[in-house]
Amino acid sequence: MSNTIFTVNSPCNRASIQPYCERVKALVTPERFEHIVRVAILSETIALANNFSAEELRAASLAAVLHDAARDLPTEELFALAPPQTELEKQHPLAVHGRAGRRLVERWGVSDERVLAAIEGHVFGVSLKHRIGMALYVADVSEPGRGVNEDIRKLAMNNLQKAYRHAVDSKVRYLRKKGKAVHPATLAVYQEICEPTQ
Ligand SMILES: [Fe+2]
Ligand SMILES: [Fe+2]
Repeated sequence: MSNTIFTVNSPCNRASIQPYCERVKALVTPERFEHIVRVAILSETIALANNFSAEELRAASLAAVLHDAARDLPTEELFALAPPQTELEKQHPLAVHGRAGRRLVERWGVSDERVLAAIEGHVFGVSLKHRIGMALYVADVSEPGRGVNEDIRKLAMNNLQKAYRHAVDSKVRYLRKKGKAVHPATLAVYQEICEPTQ
């Protein structure tokens, strides 16, 4: 259990991350960029609270800064980066923005597989072994600007896996309640981490 309060400045103030922030900022709306900075701060706070190594911490910050790089691209560009693989993706182009973001930042020279997998996984989820992906996923759904999921944010300071499970579970329940389709990749993650096995 950690009761320490961590104060984190925007990773965009750091020389090694700042150029990536500039590239992302040029592609997204100002509101989106504000969200991205909040996610980056929270992702780093979660990483610190869960004893990530310095290297993991950097990966968590970078993944957070880059996670929505493709989020505001026109559909044509999204699909050029990540061609739709299912009918659901064809109908909901935003479903591919994680995969498209991964391709985009690969072109920028990002090659750390943990960072790339976290960017791709922030939409559909990652496995329970993926600490950087879990930190990003949880930070994305619970950053303070969203005004929801404060419980998940608090839980993540003590138990990242539990918070992540909770976040995936809430997402699937929400989609089902609204009668919306659940992407097969989300369902696979949900079944792996939330449904009891015998
Ligand atoms: Fe996103
Ligand atoms: Fe996001």
